[in-house]
Amino acid sequence: SPILNQPLSAKYVKSFAYPTFKERIPKIIDSVIECLNINYVKEKCEDEAVIQEVEIIKQKILNLRNSMVSDGDLLPFNLNSGIFAQITSVYNKMIEQLKKSNNGSSPTWFQTEWLFAECYLYYRLHEIFYTSNTFKHYDPFLAVKIDSLLASNDAVYTLAGLLVETKEKTVPTGSKLEELFKFYLKCSLWGNKSDLSLSNGKAVGAEDTFSTFNEMDSEILVNDSRIAYDVLKKKDNTIDIILDNAGYELFNDLVFADFLIWSGIAKTVVFHGKNIPWFVSDVTPTDFKIIFDLLETKLKNENTLTLVNSWREYLDEGVWELKCEPFWTYPCDFSKMSSEAPELYKKLGLSDLLIFKGDLNYRKLMGDIFWEPTTSFKFALRGFEPTNVLALRTVKADTISGLPKGVFEELNAKEANWMITGKYALIQLLRK
Ligand code: F6P
Ligand code: MG
Repeated sequence: SPILNQPLSAKYVKSFAYPTFKERIPKIIDSVIECLNINYVKEKCEDEAVIQEVEIIKQKILNLRNSMVSDGDLLPFNLNSGIFAQITSVYNKMIEQLKKSNNGSSPTWFQTEWLFAECYLYYRLHEIFYTSNTFKHYDPFLAVKIDSLLASNDAVYTLAGLLVETKEKTVPTGSKLEELFKFYLKCSLWGNKSDLSLSNGKAVGAEDTFSTFNEMDSEILVNDSRIAYDVLKKKDNTIDIILDNAGYELFNDLVFADFLIWSGIAKTVVFHGKNIPWFVSDVTPTDFKIIFDLLETKLKNENTLTLVNSWREYLDEGVWELKCEPFWTYPCDFSKMSSEAPELYKKLGLSDLLIFKGDLNYRKLMGDIFWEPTTSFKFALRGFEPTNVLALRTVKADTISGLPKGVFEELNAKEANWMITGKYALIQLLRK
């Protein structure tokens, strides 16, 4: 079992870290190779040089897979061009530190910290593509991200309809506005159920979302949405959303952000994405662009068109903005932001509310530590307090904080896997 107050690691067979490196990620790697196999064959690709390069890439990916399953060493990176020089130096510095604390031996996949090793994997994959000639900006997960959004079309149409209907009325006040706030916040929260590293691209149906929201309230283990509403009462806030997954989740986040602007709760929303393909389905600038295009083409109806029109205006006018800072693909937890990315820490501190979406962001807030589950959220943040912080997370990994006494034990007795299915959720706020 993981050890209390220590970071999760695959050395603990009972941590989700273990099956992650044993089975889950090897399967993800296989799907990347499979995707190359399907698309880069003579019938589909005429350029022989490209096909040859794909063979080299596949070999490198296989080596990476082998290194993982045989608990090989995590070695320094050589990627030193552009923004990657900075990212690489952070990875390499951390490898050095881990080595030192390990009597000079390299960290290995199963023996080191899970968070570091999992970030290392996605950065290595990126390195393999980026150092090639023809695949520098290739995203091996792009197709699944698009397919899963298209497959969730029912839920997209339902939610688009609800938002358009909301926006046709005048902005309510008092408890009516609070109710709407909580509804759209829950859309954004439950949208996080749909990440592709766990679901393998399963579609989200409208029937299992909005109509069952009320029943799902009992699965929200901590719900600070009332206080979050309170924090934003002064209106015209600047809100930053640190995004998680592309596709259906991103759609829900955009809907929530639109509600925030329309209602006057926010005057600006800054979205934060990743510069490179990350944890399978995290939002890249391309994903952010593509969702707009899809809502105007393959997912088009009257409501999606209405929404995209206003969303494009928000972007043109700077009411919405997308930023992709290198820090989000560092292997660091967020308590290190003030030292590793002081400018970003300062900038985020000017925001009225930071909304952290998803499981990986939550792990980074917690330092991926196996906290005693009633440890307060504030304590578990270990000094990461740039401003008000709100976590919207469906629980997919074995780190958690702020649970009421007894809940952890009760859930353990009832459902052995409750921490890794995404069935349960948290709406946790640190008010600064
Ligand atoms: O914990 C399981 C896991 O797949 C991790 O690999 C990762 O932190 C996360 O869930 C991905 O989920 P999300 O997209 O919600 O961050
Ligand atoms: Mg994700």
